[in-house]
Amino acid sequence: TAPGLLDRFGRTATDLRVSLTDKCNLRCTYCMPADGLPALPREQALDADEIVRLVEIGVRLLGIRQVRFTGGEPLLRADLIDIVRRVAALEPRPEVSLTTNAIGLAHRAQALADAGLDRVNVSLDSLHAETFMKVSRRPFLDKVLAGVDAAAAAGLTPVKINAVLLPGVNDHEAPDLLAWALRGGHELRFIEQMPLDADRSWDRASFVTSRDIHSLIATRFDLSPTDIERDGAPAELFDAVGRGDDAGLSGRVGIIASVSEPFCADCRRTRMTAEGGIRSCLFSGGETGLRDLLRDGASDDELADAWRGAMWAKPSGHGIDDPDFVQPARTMSAIGG
Ligand code: GTP
Ligand code: 5AD
Ligand code: SF4
Repeated sequence: TAPGLLDRFGRTATDLRVSLTDKCNLRCTYCMPADGLPALPREQALDADEIVRLVEIGVRLLGIRQVRFTGGEPLLRADLIDIVRRVAALEPRPEVSLTTNAIGLAHRAQALADAGLDRVNVSLDSLHAETFMKVSRRPFLDKVLAGVDAAAAAGLTPVKINAVLLPGVNDHEAPDLLAWALRGGHELRFIEQMPLDADRSWDRASFVTSRDIHSLIATRFDLSPTDIERDGAPAELFDAVGRGDDAGLSGRVGIIASVSEPFCADCRRTRMTAEGGIRSCLFSGGETGLRDLLRDGASDDELADAWRGAMWAKPSGHGIDDPDFVQPARTMSAIGG
């Protein structure tokens, strides 16, 4: 059989992350500027047929086994349910998941589940309206919480909750977030902030590290490492058991230590932007555009070869610690987490 998405460092990408739009209805400080970014002109964005064709090539010719839709905010695409249905019908059927801020999920969770969506990861950094507003610059906490409930009710489980902790803004809330997640049966993951924002505000000296996260949770919970195989996943998992007022609460919690303990050596990810560019890494210097090839009539094999070429050039790691590190021009909102 033809080779999959190999790179020079012996890794094989089997996990595709598709950004469906660069638009978002939040303005999280670690991701977007306060005024937003100019949206991609409509004709430059892939339509549903183009997305499904490229994903199909990934699944049939290149060994993709998991497909995650991201953004920007993927729920802003009116054709999301249609795209999910068609991707979940591919053979061999990939696992299909969604990373979302959950605004509007309350109305669509059941339809997405019916279309074949397997699970969702929801970004949620605070349970307090004021702090939520500080992080995301929008007053939509209630909509997010309704979205999480609807996802759980629709069986899009385990619902994973992604929380980025910012020093002096929401880091004190770490144990409250964990208690809330355990009560609701959700799997919370704390994420180290990476330099992918628009304001270039990431600061090596003050971002909240996995060690900090440990200490913050340990004030109320005992943590022990799980024996679950990590298997290329970004999150390191722990069993948490509450003490004192939190006695009786227990379950799993993850820490995603992208910066302080990089997991790049085991990376299995390949990314597609909303305009059909293949990014071999969140931090890759460039992209290989597939859209123009596709619109010029390239065959499936030609598109697969271009995709393989893009991944062969994948860097060994994010390089944040290199003295000559340069932050990517694209923000997280235009790559997809
Ligand atoms: P599952 O555990 O399979 O649900 O997926 P996931 O953890 O890959 O999903 P999600 O999209 O929720 O990503 C969680 C966080 O992991 C992101 O917000 C990023 O901070 C981080 N992350 C995901 N992929 C990468 C990657 O390739 N490199 C780095 N450094 N961080 C990543
Ligand atoms: N560093 C780490 N995680 C980030 N996310 C967005 N921007 C950053 C960043 N600079 C996370 C969001 C979301 C996922 C898609 O990526 O919290 O859960
Ligand atoms: Fe939007 Fe996600 Fe960025 Fe927040 S992190 S502004 S939800 S794209």
